[in-house]
Amino acid sequence: MKHIYTKGKKQDAPTLLLLHGTGGNEHDLLALANMIAPDSSILSVRGNVLENGMPRFFRRLAEGLFDEEDLVFRTKELTEFVNESAKTYGFDRDRVVAIGYSNGANIAASMMYHHENALNGAILFHAMVPRRGVEIPDLTGTSVFIGAGKRDPLIPLNETKELIKDLEKANATMNEYWVDGGHQLVREEVEKAKEWFEATY
Ligand code: MLT
Repeated sequence: MKHIYTKGKKQDAPTLLLLHGTGGNEHDLLALANMIAPDSSILSVRGNVLENGMPRFFRRLAEGLFDEEDLVFRTKELTEFVNESAKTYGFDRDRVVAIGYSNGANIAASMMYHHENALNGAILFHAMVPRRGVEIPDLTGTSVFIGAGKRDPLIPLNETKELIKDLEKANATMNEYWVDGGHQLVREEVEKAKEWFEATY
């Protein structure tokens, strides 16, 4: 997959897996990662799917309606890419923390829904429930920060709550922070994510 890898200053810090939103690319979240965890190594990936020329991580049939078959296929593809990258670049596969926004947060959530030990932790900004009716692997030891907007026009409040409940039920340690705004990522939640990251790792 098209990506950027940069080695961090601190060897024992988790590696950040950066996953952009629809229409973004592997450059989008670099500044954000630098704010949250400036010493971490970074693996920033571009989604393999194009929607009207806009990169994404999996196909959708309509706004908020995911192509399940493609979601499952792309989730596996990304998880395997992270496995391979750990060997190529020599980072600790057991210490990978995803930072995803919107579509990128959705595929990060999907990694946790479908694959055991896919992520050691995740910062999910404005994420949805990736899939329903599946048994989520045991997420004991996985820490998740959720940043969400109370008035997000794309994601009903209850959907974010359902996502939190799903992950909690699978034994993930959850932290949530709600902003008054909508789908846009705002500084306030990035600052909270940074505080969470520093307290957790
Ligand atoms: C998705 O398709 O993953 C969500 O609707 C968010 C987005 O628009 O990227």
